[in-house]
Amino acid sequence: MNGHYAIAIDGPSGAGKSTQAKRLAKEFSFIYVDTGAIYRTLGLACYRAEIDRKDAAAVMELLKTLDISIRYNEAGEQCMLLNGEDVSKEIRQPEISICASDVSALPEVRRFLLDMQRRFARENNVVMDGRDIGTVVLPDAELKIFLTASPEARARRRLLDLKEKGIEESFEDVLRDINYRDEQDTKRAAAPLRQAEDAVLVDSSDIGFEETFARLCELVIRRLAAVRED
Ligand code: DC
Repeated sequence: MNGHYAIAIDGPSGAGKSTQAKRLAKEFSFIYVDTGAIYRTLGLACYRAEIDRKDAAAVMELLKTLDISIRYNEAGEQCMLLNGEDVSKEIRQPEISICASDVSALPEVRRFLLDMQRRFARENNVVMDGRDIGTVVLPDAELKIFLTASPEARARRRLLDLKEKGIEESFEDVLRDINYRDEQDTKRAAAPLRQAEDAVLVDSSDIGFEETFARLCELVIRRLAAVRED
């Protein structure tokens, strides 16, 4: 370790990673890093520039001209800046989820964004969530959790989240997007979504938020105690 602790949480879209990770970070006074938001910001930039998101050369050419950065506001929330503009809300639109998944499949993009993610973990205690945190970004994380749930359970939760944000979608559309992203995120050649060998699997299909959170807290407490004893 580098003097800081890292908790990696990976899993498919809509498994509750970000809500759980955010609360865990608060509970243990770590910094929360949502890496999906970085891919979403690039996805939004491609969408706005109307470029083919599967064309690696075109995406890289655009990426090199962009200033993508993360800021934390007074409430401690992660905000995404695209060339200085706060795009935190816009990147949550359903069409941007697909754009993010498309650009995240490009190995050049993943390589380019790796350092930005690692820098946070070098400088802070982090709870970082994504798809390849335990396998690629932070392979030496003190604790790795693979948080999953069935596609239907995830679609139901995503629908509620979107509704709260005032975004209307049908269950079928949300489930279709989840299946599209699952397929693409797990089958891509570059850093596909998979459980690291030393990750703890937590399936939240049939347990509520609080019970899932309690399980995660227990894992963190046990792991940190073991690491501190070493
Ligand atoms: O976690 P999210 O749904 O906001 O992520 C958006 C997309 O970015 C998702 O389809 C997969 C991709 N992603 C990734 O490939 N690697 C990460 N570490 C985080 C997200």
